[in-house]
Amino acid sequence: MTDKKKKMGLVKRLALLGFVGVGGLAVLGYGGLYFASASALARTHTLDVAGVDIPEDDEDAVARGKYLVDHVMGCSHSDCHQADMGGGETMNQFPLGLVYAPNLTSGTGGVVGAYEAQDWVRTVRHGLKPDGTRTFIMPSEDYWSFPDSDIGAVVAYIKSLPPVDRETKKHSLGPIGMLIAATEPVYAWDKIDHSAERPKAERGPTEEWGKVMIGACTGCHGSGLSGGEIPGGDPSWPPSRNITPDEATGIGAWEFADFEKAIRTGARPDGTKLHEAMPYELYVKMDPDDITALWKYLRTVPARPAGGR
Ligand code: HEC
Repeated sequence: MTDKKKKMGLVKRLALLGFVGVGGLAVLGYGGLYFASASALARTHTLDVAGVDIPEDDEDAVARGKYLVDHVMGCSHSDCHQADMGGGETMNQFPLGLVYAPNLTSGTGGVVGAYEAQDWVRTVRHGLKPDGTRTFIMPSEDYWSFPDSDIGAVVAYIKSLPPVDRETKKHSLGPIGMLIAATEPVYAWDKIDHSAERPKAERGPTEEWGKVMIGACTGCHGSGLSGGEIPGGDPSWPPSRNITPDEATGIGAWEFADFEKAIRTGARPDGTKLHEAMPYELYVKMDPDDITALWKYLRTVPARPAGGR
């Protein structure tokens, strides 16, 4: 064999080794990611909670539940459990994969048939499903602050809905979805202080009630309300904005009328339109007292620069 041929052979072998090496690393990496995300999704916790009264026969409570579901909490949003609450795709695109919001009706494919009041409270308020695993993407941190009567009303309304027969698909994550499931703060359970005292307030156009209502904004705007990238949000969404009274980057220079217009129509004072990720199409029917309460409370929070969440 000539030296040249020997060299070629060596180069080929090295190239092959390199190829196998890179391929092997990719397989290992993917396997690692798969394992890490599967184990994050399977991790379990326990929490004792008290149930709440679910006033299924109380028309006013059911109507209150409908209002909260459709215009405050956004459970029936088209990216979530859908208008009929029969569930659907939250996202389904490579490389994120499929994230599926379950069917909450009593039809075939519904997942809540065996839920007791405690199971509802643990899932909706704390982000922990009856099997002890954490809800993925579902923003339970947004609902934590609402009083027992509201949680009961929401459940009573959901139970009043006609059954929808629609299979609840399993999440099927792509590589980026797995990375998010394994590493990002996308589990409400991890964001909620489960031993904190819930704000106590009667409904009304007050700062105190605003502190309860603002719960519904924190999943996207952050617990400090200064906005930023939304963990687990659709990748096409812009960062949420700063809604603290910071003059430069927040809404410090806004009047109440500016706020109400932005909340209901997505129109900012400078004439630009907000992205639909800000769910103003739900808030268009928000109770005026609730908007006043939000505004009053937002005036009292510390001003912070944008993006700190
Ligand atoms: C699902 C995520 C989401 C929820 C829930 C949400 N927001 Fe937003 N919000 C956004 C995003 C994203 C933007 C920025 C949109 C853009 O820049 O086009 C925004 C923008 C805003 C703005 C405009 C600020 C500015 O400077 O233009 C206000 C005001 C606002 N949100 C208030 C609220 C309030 C109050 C709540 C709770 C009742 C709330 N948002 C709930 C995502 C959300």
